[in-house]
Amino acid sequence: MKVAFSLVLCLIGFHGILASDCLPRDYGNDGTVCVCNTDHCDTVTPVEQESEGNYIIYTSNKAGLRFNIGRGTFTQNNLTAETINIDQNTTYQEILGWGGAFTDATGININSLSSETRTRLLRSYFSNEGLEYSLCRVPIGGTDFSTHGYTYVNETEPDVELNTFSLRTEDYQLKIPLIQAALNLSENNLKLFASAWIAPTWMKLNGQYAGTLGYLKTEMYQPWANYFLKFLEQYRNQNITFWGITTGNEPSLATTTSDIPSVAWTSTEMLNWINNNLGPTLRNSTFSNIAIMAIDDQRFFYPWYVDLLFINANVRNYVNGLAVHWYWDEEFPPSLLTSTHNEYPEKFILATEACLGDGDNDVPVLLGSWARGERYISSIIEDTNHWTSGWLDWNMALDETGGPTYINNNVDSPIIVNATADEFYKQPMYYAIGHFSKFVPRGSVRISSTQFSSDIPVTAFRRPDSGVVVVILNQRNEDVPIVIMDESRGKISTNLTASSFTTVLYW
Ligand SMILES: *[C@@H]1O[C@H](CO)[C@@H](O)[C@H](O)[C@H]1NC(C)=O
Ligand SMILES: *[C@@H]1O[C@H](CO)[C@@H](O)[C@H](O)[C@H]1NC(C)=O
Ligand SMILES: *[C@@H]1O[C@H](CO)[C@@H](O)[C@H](O)[C@H]1NC(C)=O
Ligand SMILES: *[C@@H]1O[C@H](CO)[C@@H](O)[C@H](O)[C@H]1NC(C)=O
Ligand SMILES: *[C@@H]1O[C@H](CO)[C@@H](O)[C@H](O)[C@H]1NC(C)=O
Ligand SMILES: *[C@@H]1O[C@H](CO)[C@@H](O)[C@H](O)[C@H]1NC(C)=O
Ligand SMILES: *[C@@H]1O[C@H](CO)[C@@H](O)[C@H](O)[C@H]1NC(C)=O
Ligand SMILES: *[C@@H]1O[C@H](CO)[C@@H](O)[C@H](O)[C@H]1NC(C)=O
Repeated sequence: MKVAFSLVLCLIGFHGILASDCLPRDYGNDGTVCVCNTDHCDTVTPVEQESEGNYIIYTSNKAGLRFNIGRGTFTQNNLTAETINIDQNTTYQEILGWGGAFTDATGININSLSSETRTRLLRSYFSNEGLEYSLCRVPIGGTDFSTHGYTYVNETEPDVELNTFSLRTEDYQLKIPLIQAALNLSENNLKLFASAWIAPTWMKLNGQYAGTLGYLKTEMYQPWANYFLKFLEQYRNQNITFWGITTGNEPSLATTTSDIPSVAWTSTEMLNWINNNLGPTLRNSTFSNIAIMAIDDQRFFYPWYVDLLFINANVRNYVNGLAVHWYWDEEFPPSLLTSTHNEYPEKFILATEACLGDGDNDVPVLLGSWARGERYISSIIEDTNHWTSGWLDWNMALDETGGPTYINNNVDSPIIVNATADEFYKQPMYYAIGHFSKFVPRGSVRISSTQFSSDIPVTAFRRPDSGVVVVILNQRNEDVPIVIMDESRGKISTNLTASSFTTVLYW
């Protein structure tokens, strides 16, 4: 009796371990969040290899499923449903990673939680019971998601030698401890790259962090390159090393009246800066292998601005890849990325920033919005189907207002923190990224997949362990029977549930 009773408990417990369930909450925004607190947080178990002939299917949907696990076997039967054809022989780009940004706002919100809840949040992003984020962005100094603008030097008078350069309280309290915890939770699988927003006012033509004519003074080109190098050195002193660095966040902003701090570059000036300053400075340093990414701005720079940079063979040689943001994607098609890839097949393309709630008429935070999750996953599928090697979100955690941000640029985030209640909310956007980050490790390659309807976009990968991952978005408000056909395995017959994200895995 006792044995039987523990067996039952064990079986119930086993379910809990497999996928600790979502604690749903509906805020009336057409979808639900999962609530996490000191006592509870939904998890998803690490992927385990299935034997050949079997598959695993993970479903998240508007009705409330979150990484719900199903299993099945391939069939050789003739089936009549709409078919997605997978061709493992046709391969495309290699994947670099998935993740978000360690902004000051992210640190402030995570630190506002009790240590138990904070650990649950970090585990949700970085551990193998969470999304297993593999690539994150670290701002060099402040951004609009800081409580004030700042740089690493004293700005009372020009300091071209950077003698006053030092990391800030923000680095020591909001970034470094969280990055170190994330590196630990990810078992050092997490890679990082750095991007600068704010240059010292004395380096700039307009003498301000933000605003029009935000170009660098020519005589400041070398100090600005040295500034990047100093940042890398100071973080290395904290045992944090960087895989990559961008030429700077959104140069286009500093040609507008935007309050977002930025440094502007004409293509000629950026060419000169990379050629004479940034390239030689980094390649001659102990960081000589760092991946240099140019642009770090919207698709409208592609490929014309890249062409203007790569006219110079040295610049083309210094630059390893191109960083792209998503904010004007409705106006600028993904074919711009494909043309860029076709011109420069040796350069990777990485999507380095995205967020929602940023429009003038948007509500910054929409708790539970399934539509926002769909926007994320459809962008990831579209970008990866156009040669993008990874996709990064913006702030990893914001408060209930979508901040803090010192210029009131409040937006949404996949995790919203409620410090008062010591809880946080995982939005559908969190699961949207997770349907990739959890299952498609660095080093996977995209493989050919077909798509039978534009409202059911698909993409597919082969993992380093030879597993195949198929990610499907069902935007229809109804179940859709489908067949996945892989000549080397046979057919999978399944139903996509209404308004769902699906990841199918087989070896
Ligand atoms: C599948 O269809 C093909 C051609 O229509 C037929 O030759 C074959 O016997 C069918 N297989 C099964 C298992 O029904
Ligand atoms: C993939 O390549 C293998 C070996 O060359 C071949 O047998 C198979 O037919 C190919 N599959 C497809 C879908 O082209
Ligand atoms: C900057 O330098 C001035 C003059 O040396 C000094 O008074 C001030 O405290 C310094 N400010 C910071 C933030 O270090
Ligand atoms: C993570 O931290 C634990 C405890 O401090 C330590 O034992 C472990 O080696 C660390 N893991 C990594 C990958 O740094
Ligand atoms: C960096 O790592 C070394 C060796 O593990 C350790 O001794 C040192 O304390 C670490 N430094 C910091 C700032 O964490
Ligand atoms: C290193 O610096 C030297 C001297 O400034 C320069 O000629 C050389 O091109 C640089 N090396 C690289 C790899 O940029
Ligand atoms: C945050 O927590 C407080 C205190 O429990 C509660 O009053 C408030 O409604 C919560 N906010 C949200 C968005 O749930
Ligand atoms: C799909 O749904 C239909 C209708 O609900 C059902 O008859 C069928 O068995 C389902 N197919 C699979 C593979 O689950």
